[in-house]
Amino acid sequence: MINRWYQEAVIYSVDVSSFQDSDGDGRGDLRGLISRLDYLSRLGVSCLWLNPIHPSPWRDNGYDISDYYGIHPALGSLGDFAELAREAQERGIRIVLDLVVNHTSDEHPWFASARSSPDSPYRDWYVWSAEEPPDRHQGTVFPGEQEETWSFDEQAQAWYFHRFYGFQPDLNWANPAVRREMAKIMNFWLQVGAAGFRIDAAPFILEQVMPGVDPGPKDFSIMDSWRQETQWVRGDSVLLCEANVPPTEVGTYVGSRFDGPSDRAQMMFDFLLNPRVWLALARSDAEPLIEALTTAARLPEGGQWVSFLRNHDELDLSRLTDEQRGDTFRAFAPRPEMRLYGRGIRRRLAPMVQGDKRRIELAYALQFSLPGTPALRYGEEIGMGEDLSLDGREAIRTPMQWDDTSNAGFSSAAPEALFRPAAMKGRFGAKKVNVRAQQRDPNSLLRWFENLIYTLRTAPEIGTGTCSVINAPLPRSVLAHRFDAPTGSILLLHNLADTTVTVDIGPQPGMNGNPYDLFVDGPYDAPTKKLTGLTLNGWGYRWIRLARSDQG
Ligand code: NOJ
Repeated sequence: MINRWYQEAVIYSVDVSSFQDSDGDGRGDLRGLISRLDYLSRLGVSCLWLNPIHPSPWRDNGYDISDYYGIHPALGSLGDFAELAREAQERGIRIVLDLVVNHTSDEHPWFASARSSPDSPYRDWYVWSAEEPPDRHQGTVFPGEQEETWSFDEQAQAWYFHRFYGFQPDLNWANPAVRREMAKIMNFWLQVGAAGFRIDAAPFILEQVMPGVDPGPKDFSIMDSWRQETQWVRGDSVLLCEANVPPTEVGTYVGSRFDGPSDRAQMMFDFLLNPRVWLALARSDAEPLIEALTTAARLPEGGQWVSFLRNHDELDLSRLTDEQRGDTFRAFAPRPEMRLYGRGIRRRLAPMVQGDKRRIELAYALQFSLPGTPALRYGEEIGMGEDLSLDGREAIRTPMQWDDTSNAGFSSAAPEALFRPAAMKGRFGAKKVNVRAQQRDPNSLLRWFENLIYTLRTAPEIGTGTCSVINAPLPRSVLAHRFDAPTGSILLLHNLADTTVTVDIGPQPGMNGNPYDLFVDGPYDAPTKKLTGLTLNGWGYRWIRLARSDQG
């Protein structure tokens, strides 16, 4: 069987600015990241997703690009990028770049030209309206920070569309010249070593914007051509969609036919499962997960979910009902300053569970046992916290905590010269939570993550197999599911509550030999063939191998 690398990958999301500074200017850079590749390699990650690294006024953490062909000068040079790609490849790590092509920065030369004259060759690269659009206050993405989606531009004497902030004018994807330029950009980065792209704001790229029509109909031919072009340039390249869309639409991003193979993006972030995991954890009740897993949309063949618990944005709970969101807020963001946009949480996971190591491990064991490929945000592997004194989403973007020296080992600059302050004090600050201390401690969270990722490598069924929820009478707090693939079968048990339970799963089809524990939170008696009387500690988990086949 030919392996598709993305189905057995572990994705690690890095903000280069916040990871490691190599030249003492107070900001992380590509050379700093290169110097930490051995750390990432030992952790076991096989794919780095870099948040934007291009020249940008940096008013939205780099998601406002002013030159698609360059590297932000504070982060390094193109040469540094090529070296990163090469060094990463030496370690079996692929680099996926954020492709932010729904909009540019308003400082991009294309927009400067477009707004300067109706005759500019770039005028039609953006979306304009001569009249004030009736729906200009509709469809905002950042309530409280953004008031409209159409703004009047004095210079152009016209209204321009921006799905996000006013400084992020949307590109006009109906214009073939825009499509051609973007194909060139993708080709360029694939040539210099990228292995694929995380497509930022995918649904908004596809939507055909018209004043007074919101949302506009989507043009999926854009995705068809991306897949054609990228795969022609680099056969094993991938597209990973950021598309928080309803279950009925998800498959369309992956394939043009539900019963055909994936011929669009290979991967989709699982925005449907993510809030369900948090709800289940908040209520210590597996039901939201059982429901989500049993009714999950199927992706076209070769398509892959990417699971995550935290990313660089707020934890978006907008897919939950008011009551469900209320329960999740109460459990994990009890104070108003922990919440954002009325729908989300601007915290990291460790503080959300009061730093309880058992709960952190349970949550991540659960995530890594969900269908698809797991993505992990930098710093989660050591249990970093957030800094709520910073604005909005900045709270969760503080520098990586390498050791307990000044600036957490992130930079040799003076602390006041840092791009973003390093968290030093408090329960989650670098004095207590840092890589160096955890490397020396065999019982640390970091060591646990290394084990988790290693175990996942020995359990390829989770990335490639078919998932089913076990139908047995179980305590409410227990999720029991299994994966079956040509390589074998695995049973996964997770207890979402703080009480010890004993569960009877009963004999399972397709077992060969005696079942055995692969990954557990503590010593347990070996499982019997009947899989009865299985103990699970409070917040406990057991990954049990049921069958291993030579066919895989
Ligand atoms: C989604 C990104 O994840 C977010 O950080 C950004 O602000 C918007 N897209 C706009 O690019």
